[in-house]
Amino acid sequence: MMNVEYTLDAFVGALRDIVRRGGSAQEVLKQVQPLAQRLAASQDLRSRCNRQCDPAQGFGFQLLHEEPDHDLAVAALSWLPGRGTPPHDHGTWGVVVGVEGDEVNTFWKRTDDGSNPNFAALEKLQEKVFPPGVVIGLTPDIIHSVRNDGADVSVSLHVYGRNINFTGRSQFDPAKRTVTPWVVRQN
Ligand SMILES: [Fe+2]
Repeated sequence: MMNVEYTLDAFVGALRDIVRRGGSAQEVLKQVQPLAQRLAASQDLRSRCNRQCDPAQGFGFQLLHEEPDHDLAVAALSWLPGRGTPPHDHGTWGVVVGVEGDEVNTFWKRTDDGSNPNFAALEKLQEKVFPPGVVIGLTPDIIHSVRNDGADVSVSLHVYGRNINFTGRSQFDPAKRTVTPWVVRQN
């Protein structure tokens, strides 16, 4: 259902209130998720999405908001057909809602003890298709990868406790068993 009244500005105001009240990542996620669903369904969000994809990385990261210190990042991500991400974490909490097209999320478990800074062993847990309107809550420790298996560009709304290029987060190569820093191109 299209929600014509909710806006990015109203969402950012609510985000600030939620974070100011404090609480665990789980408690923050529980409050942010329904509001992110409202924003994803809003005319304001849809009119802001540029749907531009970066062919080099397979997706476009359109930053819609962040605080001056890079906290509370809101972004629209547009994904080329057949493209996606390596497994990665975020170093902060995250909420993702589908806006256009289905996106496949694969969830991974890290099985090594993290003592070697360059080594990581991953085990694939489950794969799930997320259609528009469905929300995903990500605690800072969750590792996932995202793929657009559709024929058209897909779009999703992403909300993070902090801009993920400023959290020191990681990407993983399950075949090579490596872990490396991951910074994405943002527009
Ligand atoms: Fe992610």
